[in-house]
Amino acid sequence: MKLKTHKGILLFFTLFVGIGALVGGICMLIKPDGTILHMENMLPYFEILPFSEVLFQDYIFSGIMLIIINGISNITATVLIFMNKKLGYVLGTIFGFTLMLWIIIQFVMFPMNALDIIYFTVGCLQLITGYMALVCFNQVNFKFNEDDYKNINKDSKTLVVYFSRMNYTKKIAYEAANNENAYIVGLKTKERTKGILGFWWCGRFGMHKWSMETLPLEVDINNYEKIILVTPIWVFKMCAPMRDFVIKNKDVLINKKVDVIFNHFNPWLPKGAIKEIEKQISINCLASKTTMLGHTFKK
Ligand SMILES: Cc1cc2nc3c(=O)[nH]c(=O)nc-3n(C[C@H](O)[C@H](O)[C@H](O)COP(=O)(O)O)c2cc1C
Repeated sequence: MKLKTHKGILLFFTLFVGIGALVGGICMLIKPDGTILHMENMLPYFEILPFSEVLFQDYIFSGIMLIIINGISNITATVLIFMNKKLGYVLGTIFGFTLMLWIIIQFVMFPMNALDIIYFTVGCLQLITGYMALVCFNQVNFKFNEDDYKNINKDSKTLVVYFSRMNYTKKIAYEAANNENAYIVGLKTKERTKGILGFWWCGRFGMHKWSMETLPLEVDINNYEKIILVTPIWVFKMCAPMRDFVIKNKDVLINKKVDVIFNHFNPWLPKGAIKEIEKQISINCLASKTTMLGHTFKK
C-alpha cells in the first residue's frame, strides 16, 4: 500500500518534470531566440556562465540540455517505474536531485522568481518520494527463510554474531554463516527496536553513539577461533547493540580472528564506522553490503 502511494506520487513528478522539460526544450529548438517561451530578454543573464559567447547566444544548447538532463531522463525513469523496475526508483530519486542542481544554477543566474522556487520544491519532493519508494520497494521484495541455510553448524569453531531489526542484516549473517559452516547467534535487547517507534528509539541511540544493553549471549565466545560480526549501520556507525557487544567483549575479541560485515541502506560505507570498531579491536577482514543496490565490497 505504502509502495503504491509513493510510486504514484513519484510517477507524477517524473512525468510532470519529464514532459515539461521535453516541451520546453522543443520550444527552444523550434524558436532558438526564445520567443515561444517569452524568454527572448533573458539571454543576457547567461553571460555569467562559462563559454557563454559560444553556447548561450541562443537557446539551442540550453534546449538540448533541458531535453537530455530533465526530459529524456525523467521519461526513462517513468517507464521503468511503470514496469516496477528497481532502477526506475533509483533514477527517479537521482533525477529529483539533478533538477535541484539545475534550479540552483538558475537561482544564481536569474533574479529570484516563483517558477524557480516551485521547480526547486518539486525536485526536492521528487528526491524524497523516490527515496521513500525505494525503501518500500526493497521491503516488499525482501525474502528470507532460515531453513534455506543448511550449513549452519553448531560444532563449528566460527561464530557469526549479528543484530537485526527487520531481517536484512539477519539474511546477510545467515549467508555468511552458511558459507563458513559457522554457528550463528543474534544479539537481543530489551529496548524497543521494532516498528516506527523502534526506528526513532534506535535513531536516538545512534545519534548519541550510545550502546544499547544486550542480553547475555546464548554461547560462550571463548569457545570460538573466529568471530564474524554482522551489523547494520545506524547514523553512520555500527548499531548500538553491536557497540555494546564489542565494548563488553573487546578483551576476548582482541585475541580472536574477527571479520566484520556492515549492512547499510545507502550505497556507501561511512569510514567512521570502521574507525569506531578499529578503536576497540583489530579487524581481520571487512566487507560491506548495501541494501539499496545489493552490492558488496571486501577489504
Ligand atoms: C536508526 C537507524 C539509522 C540508520 N542510519 C543509516 C545510515 O546512517 N546510513 C545507512 O546507509 N543506513 C542507515 N540505516 C539503514 C540500515 O542500516 C539498513 O536499513 C539495514 O538494512 C537495516 O538492517 P536490519 O533491518 O537488519 O536491522 C539506519 C537504520 C536505522 C534503524
